[in-house]
Amino acid sequence: MTKLRAAITGVAGYVPEHVLTNEDLAKMVDTSDEWITSRTGIKERHILKTPGKATSDMGVEIVQRLLEKTNTQAEEIELLICATVTADMKFPDTANTILDKVGAKNGFGFDINAACSGFLYALTTGAKFVETGTYKKVIVVGVDMMSSIVDYTDRTTCVIFGDGGGAVMLEPNTENLGVIDSILKADGAGRHFLHLKAGGSLMPTSEETVKNRLHFAYQEGKPVFKAAVTGMTSTLRELMERNQLTNDTVEWIVPHQANMRIINSVSEMLDFPMEKIMVNIYKYGNTTAGTLPLCLSDYENQLKKGDDILLTAFGGGFTWGSIYIKWAYDGSQGSILNRN
Ligand code: UT7
Repeated sequence: MTKLRAAITGVAGYVPEHVLTNEDLAKMVDTSDEWITSRTGIKERHILKTPGKATSDMGVEIVQRLLEKTNTQAEEIELLICATVTADMKFPDTANTILDKVGAKNGFGFDINAACSGFLYALTTGAKFVETGTYKKVIVVGVDMMSSIVDYTDRTTCVIFGDGGGAVMLEPNTENLGVIDSILKADGAGRHFLHLKAGGSLMPTSEETVKNRLHFAYQEGKPVFKAAVTGMTSTLRELMERNQLTNDTVEWIVPHQANMRIINSVSEMLDFPMEKIMVNIYKYGNTTAGTLPLCLSDYENQLKKGDDILLTAFGGGFTWGSIYIKWAYDGSQGSILNRN
């Protein structure tokens, strides 16, 4: 029997207009363009500054672009999964708000919070709904408004993050194109190194938590860095081995954009050429759940039908993993527009 796969039939990305450069940050905290560039590879990031706008508004921009590119009506969306750590509100899920704002009256949705690995978790989940024949039009969004949880007086975190994201459309395919395999991992012991302390059930919001600046992302960079290199490299290796992929046959690795030095280390450890690794960290910084679809969107016109592509990420939780995709269309044509 031919296996039903979840093919990516279109991709869209979005970052807000306002650009925050390293020079801008050097006026806000004790840092420099030289430090940020050499330690992270980031030159600038985009920030959502419009009052009253939130993560769902970026999600709406992304989904509207995706619908247009894939020639899809909002009413056709059956499921929308939104990977984010910066939901508009604690509840309801941002996926519901996006569905409402784009007029997707027939769909349902939910959020996935797996930090920087959110898009991997969401894509794997969305693919299962397509592979089982349950749904034919599934949108997977990865988007974060990190500026809403970044402490712009803390130089160790504020230089890294940015706002933005992207999305893919998943549709059934019987030509062995789409999500082929995935490895997802988690280690809750890693929560101590990367988290947001207050505002949850463990430490509800109080005057004290606000005064002590506990509503911002907290990170111990060094242990996270180490675990990120190990986690991404080991899952990529395992995925390549069990799918008989080699450095020659893989066309692209799409790594989470957290630090250029992490990306370089993964390349070195796998002996995988940098020319085939997607990089856009210098212009967006780390957009958390947004980095992977933003990369796919930026590189879309270089992707060809049948390309073997590996996504990989590591983030808060700890969470990490890798996904193997066979790309379903020639990206230079925008998306699969001619449908039966
Ligand atoms: O996406 C989720 C997963 N997150 C990641 O993958 C991030 C992983 N970690 C990292 O990318 C890096 O650890 C950071 C970019 C966060 C930090 O880089 P680092 O090379 O590990 O620096 P460090 O924390 O060891 O700090 C080195 C020095 C310290 O000064 P002293 O103690 O040596 O005097 C810091 O205070 O650099 C200082 N420093 C800065 N200096 C200028 C830290 N941040 C800055 C800054 N500007 N922005």
